[in-house]
Amino acid sequence: MNTDQDKTGAAQPFEIFLVAAPGLESVLCAEARDRGFADPTAVKGGVTVTGGWPEVWRANLELRGATRVLARIASFRALHLAQLDKRARRVPWAEILRADVPVRVEASCKASRIYHAGAAAQRIERAIAEELGAPIVKAAPKPTGKKPAKDMEAEAEDTRAVQIAIQIKARIDDDLCTISVDSSGESLHKRGHKEAVNKAPMRETLAALFLRQCGYDGREPVPVVDPMCGSGTFVIEAAEIAAGLKPGRSRHFAFEQLANFDPALWQSLRAGGTPTAPTVRFHGSDRDAGAIAMSRANAERAGVSAWTDFAHHAISDLTPPEGPPGLVIVNPPYGARIGEGKSLIPLYHAMGQTLKTRFAGWRVGIITNEAALAKATELPFQEGGVSVSNGGIRVTLYRTGVLG
Ligand SMILES: C[S@@+](CC[C@H](N)C(=O)[O-])C[C@H]1O[C@@H](n2cnc3c(N)ncnc32)[C@H](O)[C@@H]1O
Repeated sequence: MNTDQDKTGAAQPFEIFLVAAPGLESVLCAEARDRGFADPTAVKGGVTVTGGWPEVWRANLELRGATRVLARIASFRALHLAQLDKRARRVPWAEILRADVPVRVEASCKASRIYHAGAAAQRIERAIAEELGAPIVKAAPKPTGKKPAKDMEAEAEDTRAVQIAIQIKARIDDDLCTISVDSSGESLHKRGHKEAVNKAPMRETLAALFLRQCGYDGREPVPVVDPMCGSGTFVIEAAEIAAGLKPGRSRHFAFEQLANFDPALWQSLRAGGTPTAPTVRFHGSDRDAGAIAMSRANAERAGVSAWTDFAHHAISDLTPPEGPPGLVIVNPPYGARIGEGKSLIPLYHAMGQTLKTRFAGWRVGIITNEAALAKATELPFQEGGVSVSNGGIRVTLYRTGVLG
C-alpha cells in the first residue's frame, strides 16, 4: 500500500471498519462473513471488510453485532502538522461531505511524531472548513473520571448530541494518518424500536453477539427462552433473527447526510429480502409486571409480537414451552460492583436448580459480572467466556452444552 497517496475514491473499494465490543471481534467477524462481506478480518476493537459505499450502508442495515461502521476514506503519512495540513486538504471532501451539514473532527495520536491530538484535529477541521465550507462543531472534551456504571440516560443524551454532526475520526499511528467517517451516527444498538427500557438493559448489539456465541445464528431457529427478560432484548433479537428481519430497518443513519448518499439505491437495499414467519416461538418472563408490559410494547414496535410470548412470573415458576428444546439465555440481576453480588447467590442457585431439573435437552447461556454467581448455579459451563463491557459493567457469557 502506498501510504503517501490518498486512498479515497468513490468507485474504489476501501476498508470498512466494523466496531465491535472488545472481546467479541471474532464473533462479529463470523457474522460479517455470513452476510457476504469481502475479506472479513478480526482486529483489535473490530473487524475490517472491504467494499464501497453500498457495503457501508448494507453493514449498517444488516449487521446485528457491529456497534458502528466507519468508512476509511483516506490514509497518508504525516510527519508534522504542516504535512498533515497539506495532505488533509487533498482529501476530496466534497465527494463525501455536504457543505451544509456540520462536521465534528476527533483525532488520536499514538507512537507518532505528531503527538498533539487537539492540534491534529484542528488542522483537519480547517482543511474541511476551507476546502469545502462545511460548518465545524467542536468536539466535546473527553469526560474525566469513571462514568457511573448505570448512567444509561446520560449516555443516551450524549449519543443524541453526537448525532447533530457528521463525525470524522483521524487516527495517527506510527506517523500514518487514517481518516474515517462514522457512517452510523447513533450507536447501532439503537435499533429504533425500543422506547421502554428497564434498569440495566442488554444492548441489542451485545445480545445478538451473545446469541451467536450460543450457536444461535438463525440458520436453524430453535425456541429461545429468557426467564428474566426485562425489556425483552434477547427474545426480540432472537425472533428478528429467525424471521430474517434487518436490524437497521426502522432507523436513520449518519450516511443519509453525506454527499454520496443515493436514496433510491438505499431504498432497494432496505426493501430487499422477504422476512419469513419463524417455525418456533420466543418466550420471555419476568417477575416484574412493568418489565413484561415493556417487553410486549417493544416486541409490538419491532413487529415480532406474533412470534413472541411474554408472561409475568418468577423464575421459580418457569417451565419449558411445548415443542422442541432450544436455548435459555438470561442476564439475571448482578451486583453493581464485584463482590457485592453475595446476596444474589440464592437467586442464582435456585435458577440453576430450575434449569437443571426442568430443561433437559436445552442449552443455557448466562450473562453475569461475577464468576461466583455463575458458579452458584452449579450448571456445567464450558471454558472460555470473555469479559465484555455492557454499559460500563463488565460481563461474561457462561455457556453450557445440551443439559442431560
Ligand atoms: C439485568 S435485568 C435483565 C435485562 C434484560 N436482559 C434487558 O435487556 O432488558 C434482570 C431482570 O431480572 C428480573 N428478575 C429478578 N429476579 C427475578 C426472579 N426471581 N424471577 C424472574 N425475574 C427476575 C428483574 O425484574 C429484571 O427485569
